[in-house]
Amino acid sequence: MNETRKEIAVDESELFRQLEYMHLIRQKNDEYESETGKKKKFYSLAMGCQMNAHDSEKLEGMLDKMGYERTDEEMEADFVIYNTCCVRENAEQKVYGKLGWLKHYKKDKPDTVIALCGCMMQQDTVLKTLREKYRHVDIVFGTFNLYKLPELMNTRMESGETVYDIWQEHEEIVEDLPSIRQFPYKASVNIMFGCNNFCSYCIVPYVRGRERSRSVEDILAEVQKLADDGVKEIVLLGQNVNSYGKSLDEPVSFAKLLRILNEVEGIERIRFMTSHPKDLSDELIEAMKDCHKVCKSLHLPVQAGSTEILRRMNRHYTKESYLETVRKVKEAMPDITLSTDIIVGFPGETEEDFQETLDVIRMVGYSTAYTFIYSKRTGTPAATMENQVEEEVIKDRFDRMLDVLNPMIFDLNRKMVGKVVTVLAEEVSKHNEDVLTGRADNNALVHFKGNKDLIGQLVPVKIVDNKTFYLIAERV
Ligand code: SAH
Ligand code: SF4
Ligand code: F3S
Repeated sequence: MNETRKEIAVDESELFRQLEYMHLIRQKNDEYESETGKKKKFYSLAMGCQMNAHDSEKLEGMLDKMGYERTDEEMEADFVIYNTCCVRENAEQKVYGKLGWLKHYKKDKPDTVIALCGCMMQQDTVLKTLREKYRHVDIVFGTFNLYKLPELMNTRMESGETVYDIWQEHEEIVEDLPSIRQFPYKASVNIMFGCNNFCSYCIVPYVRGRERSRSVEDILAEVQKLADDGVKEIVLLGQNVNSYGKSLDEPVSFAKLLRILNEVEGIERIRFMTSHPKDLSDELIEAMKDCHKVCKSLHLPVQAGSTEILRRMNRHYTKESYLETVRKVKEAMPDITLSTDIIVGFPGETEEDFQETLDVIRMVGYSTAYTFIYSKRTGTPAATMENQVEEEVIKDRFDRMLDVLNPMIFDLNRKMVGKVVTVLAEEVSKHNEDVLTGRADNNALVHFKGNKDLIGQLVPVKIVDNKTFYLIAERV
């Protein structure tokens, strides 16, 4: 108990320090505004997964508190922040490309402050490249000290030099950062950080550190606060939510957490990601089935269909055990939709191995699949494996996989036509202001005609038509 108290005290004093820096910068920005009649503007870009996006919401919340106004025009920004991702090489290339462009921008507007943070910054090789070739960057920090943004901005202002602050690990979880949500009625909630799984292709455990779960009380308090704020749907985030709570002083299962959150008044829907197939328990299937607020859609990344490839990926399940898990899930919840992540071209993948992936796709029938070409990440075990597959071969397999997936997704959507579903209306369509978009319980994207007063409400609609990636519906 004492131990826990100590940790909370550390968090609170840290937060307090940051609030003071926020206040200082706010004053400077207010002065700037009264002198020039203009507010300083920030441009923020999240380049990675949902966790990265949620981190950016917190960064944006702090910038807002410091008196900055958001702009979607990079060309207008006084403060630019990229929250980077390094899960695949192209994510990194994109950052370097943008930095090249910013170099010219900064020549015309030398007061622009450029900040980089996130997963890519946790790699020494990246820091070396930045120090050597991208000296116009002002602030660099990583994934463990996000909450220090105000202090780092202040140090940059006072020293006039580039600030590097990268930590290797962080035990405490700093709570209660302000954040700006993308949607008023839908919010992400971190339930854990880091990853212990070390899948052999993946860099995430190296840049996000070991698994740390937040306490049930902290999560519950945050969810209750969101509900009071009018939020209807929460998305629980973690690299492997199925192992939530195992390392807490008093271990709690993810299934139990779902049951607790299902009781929060005001919250109507609960989603979560990501589930690792090796840890998907019968207890969790039962909880999903019992909890009426838990959406009947499950993201269950398979990565590959061949048991031999899965073994070399260090995934700890086989093709058969994955299919058995899917069978149990569907038996318990016949209307559930499944989505997945798939990597094509893992080292040593043969045509037979690839056929096993196609086989799993056909057997499961995914409603969505995020498909990736294997990308070699230095420092991971797979990077030094023999038999890296040739690019031509990978591209051909990738195309053949889409030929199987796309018609399947189209067919699944077609089967929804005629059904009545409930949609949480999220926003006005970008293409037609009479049309609202939102998601059904099973995560299908639905467009329907409606007034924008309906945004934030759960609206029953009847599906009348299907496109490849969304459904068209009418109110009933
Ligand atoms: N924790 C989640 C996934 C996080 S990364 C999970 O285990 O499912 C998101 C996805 O990126 C992974 O599921 C994987 O499909 C893909 N990915 C990760 N490393 C990759 C690499 N080196 N090359 C290609 N895709 C990769
Ligand atoms: Fe990467 Fe595997 Fe961890 Fe997911 S579970 S983040 S794929 S190491
Ligand atoms: Fe997410 Fe990319 Fe980091 S996928 S955890 S932002 S490496």
